[in-house]
Amino acid sequence: MACPYFAGKNRPSSIQSQALESRQSIDASHSHHNNGINNETPLSYKTYLKIPQLLSAQSLLSSEGGKVTPVHDEHLFIITHQAFELWFKQIIFDIESVIKTFDCEYLEERNTLCIIQRLDRVSQIVKLLCDQFPIIETMTPQDFLEMRVYLGNSSGFESMQFRLLEIKLGVCDELRILYNKVHYTDVFFGEEKDKIFKARTEKSLLDVVNNWLERTPGLEANGFDFFGKYKSAVNGMIDQNKVHAEACEDLDKKQVLLEECQSQVDIFATLFDENLHNELRAKGNRRLTHKATLGALFIYLYREEPRIHLPFQILQRLMDIDSAMLKFRYNHACMVQRMIGSKIGTGGSSGYMYLRSTCGDRYRVFLDLMNLSTYLITRDRIPPLSAKYKHGMSIHDWMDNLSSSENDVDEESGIHSVSSHPSLAEKFKKATSLSGQLILDENVNHYRHAGKPETEV
Ligand code: HEM
Repeated sequence: MACPYFAGKNRPSSIQSQALESRQSIDASHSHHNNGINNETPLSYKTYLKIPQLLSAQSLLSSEGGKVTPVHDEHLFIITHQAFELWFKQIIFDIESVIKTFDCEYLEERNTLCIIQRLDRVSQIVKLLCDQFPIIETMTPQDFLEMRVYLGNSSGFESMQFRLLEIKLGVCDELRILYNKVHYTDVFFGEEKDKIFKARTEKSLLDVVNNWLERTPGLEANGFDFFGKYKSAVNGMIDQNKVHAEACEDLDKKQVLLEECQSQVDIFATLFDENLHNELRAKGNRRLTHKATLGALFIYLYREEPRIHLPFQILQRLMDIDSAMLKFRYNHACMVQRMIGSKIGTGGSSGYMYLRSTCGDRYRVFLDLMNLSTYLITRDRIPPLSAKYKHGMSIHDWMDNLSSSENDVDEESGIHSVSSHPSLAEKFKKATSLSGQLILDENVNHYRHAGKPETEV
């Protein structure tokens, strides 16, 4: 596809003039939309993207007022920070839209792909930002020292957008590391402070993902009872390991095997015992609720089921973002160490040491998803999905394919088309929507088999 701004300098002249004419007519039709742009100015690359404003936003302090020693690399320093801020803006924009889409009673399955695309975009942007640190590293520490004096006490610590981004993802306030006994909100004032405080009262991506996971069909004890079945499978595995260990004739080896069994018991206890999970969560060692953790584990174990592909993709993308953010913090810290060694930062922190302490698990948001691998069991032990559950998963497609006029009653099975009962169809969709994660209702099957919509779902 051609660049939308290509006015055709190199095109043959007839095409060029046609293009110009068509551009002029588009410009004319757009002129009344030109928010903030003079009506007489035709919309162009320059005006639409506000290039002049963008290019006039780099004021080099080192060459201001005829200073004799301008620092060449101050230009790079400004451009790099501004590029980061622009990308932060895009990330916040996308995360907000994903939170909004997730934040509903049930998620429209057709929105899942868009969520995955946007989460993927966010992780790609953060990866790109990680790769921008080597660019700033082309500035030598000596050159940075020359210009550091101009920075005063200003610091990346004052980046409001970076804080918004962290808050919207779900970084836990209580787990943050205090630097220089300063709370991160103390460096903001006025409108910036208001924005940060408002964001702290709103749902984060972690909150809405948690709620969505809690609704995973299959968790209900009186339905598929995933937790009950999974516990039996794990206990069966540990019992078998114990039998194997007890039978070992080599006493040293037997001891090792029995200890391994005990450590398995202890590891799985952190999942099986909800109170223990809640204690860990209160300490910040778990971020998802117990129910949401089970929902995520369910998706992990049954990810090969076609209807679970997309929910699994969502979890993958969330982990990508979490890993990329960790790399961002780490790359920044390494760059800072290279630039200022163990000097204190312009914002007053211990510099590298402070930044290094932010690279731990305290700042992770979706760490629980990574840790799910702890609870994976071999394929042969995964409790098979019941026929009823599988049936519930496929019924959605069946319903979507029905045309309401022609298929009111299926002659062979005597089943009434749900789509001829709009309110029922809606409830039906909710009840069977997997990425919508609404509890699968027993009545779905009752209705399917009864053939008549006697009971509303
Ligand atoms: C020569 C380049 C850089 C140096 C020497 C540097 C140094 C530092 C230091 C020492 C801190 C800790 C706070 C302080 O005491 O000031 C910090 C924080 C921070 N910097 Fe940089 N930085 C550089 C480039 C960047 C760039 C390009 C960005 C991108 C926006 C950035 C974003 C941040 C952020 C967001 C924080 C807060 C981190 C947190 O509190 O978790 N820095 N920086």
